[in-house]
Amino acid sequence: MSGPNTIRLSATDRGIRAAVALLRRGGMIAFPTETVYGLGADARDERAVAGIYRAKGRPSRNPLIVHVADAAAAFALIDLPEKGIAAAEAFWPGPLTLVAPVCKDAGIAPICRAGAATLAVRVPAAPLALNLLRAFGGPLAAPSANLSGHVSPTSADHVMEELTGRIDGVLDGGDCAVGLESTILGFEDGGPVLLRPGGVTLDALEALLGPVKAVGVVEDEAPNAPGQMTSHYAPGAMVRLDALEPRLGEAWLGFGPNPERGSAISLNLSPDGSLDVAAANLFAHLRALDTLLDGKGTIAVAPIPNEGLGHAINDRLARAAAPR
Ligand code: TXA
Ligand code: MG
Repeated sequence: MSGPNTIRLSATDRGIRAAVALLRRGGMIAFPTETVYGLGADARDERAVAGIYRAKGRPSRNPLIVHVADAAAAFALIDLPEKGIAAAEAFWPGPLTLVAPVCKDAGIAPICRAGAATLAVRVPAAPLALNLLRAFGGPLAAPSANLSGHVSPTSADHVMEELTGRIDGVLDGGDCAVGLESTILGFEDGGPVLLRPGGVTLDALEALLGPVKAVGVVEDEAPNAPGQMTSHYAPGAMVRLDALEPRLGEAWLGFGPNPERGSAISLNLSPDGSLDVAAANLFAHLRALDTLLDGKGTIAVAPIPNEGLGHAINDRLARAAAPR
């Protein structure tokens, strides 16, 4: 059975109009946010959202983030405690997702929550994402636009490589500015808990909210084997962390002004040692090295300072290196 023709749409009014027309027909459109590309469908349409799970090969128990154009729209979907409203006002639009009990009359298809009583909601900052949401005039459910368990896409080409023939189109807005997924913040007894480190740093959250409890992380794109150490964001090649130099035959992913260590295949996340630049390059560099290695062998990765955005970078690297 052949899937839909996947159309590349330009970042223009025409491209947005075409995307909206496809979404209104229950289609699936990938679109750029400032974090990564999301695979969007009408969050009110059970059948359209079911298509997302199918296209990604995503386990049906893994809930989706719903994207809306402004905080007012988000406040109508979830019941946030005071600190949640403060975080929304400080960081939206931006790379923050808030998880809270869904409102009774939210009108969101239950499949988005995958059985949870809570809903994850985000207001993205990328102008193209906001223009699409405004033109569509409703909520878009959107997980990262990759096959389940793979590295998140930070360009339209990445989306095309994995989802051509499985989705209706990609709105091409170039490279994502942040390059790592959103920070996910939940609440327990009104207190904030960090469910996934991401584009908003823990320091920034704690400066606003006081202590934020780190409760491990949500299982992202986990395979269906309970109790297993799950691998996520995984390239085909193995990943070796905190490497001081590559071993014979390994590809090298450097950080800071370290030499290329003699590896034939090497890239640097940020020669200047900028964590912002490293975050923006991380997924594209992992993909590029994986392609050069033909999905085999090992990528050795230099140590990344565990501060600021480094928390989220190291979280993604640890998942990429987890046993499969
Ligand atoms: O930056 C991002 O967050 C991107 C862009 C497209 O917005 N989206 C993204 O979606 O990374 P996804 O589906 O790849 O990751 C969302 C994570 C998953 O780990 C999922 O389990 C978790 O959010 N999640 C969604 N709803 C949840 C809920 N109600 N409670 C706890 N975790 C939830
Ligand atoms: Mg994902």
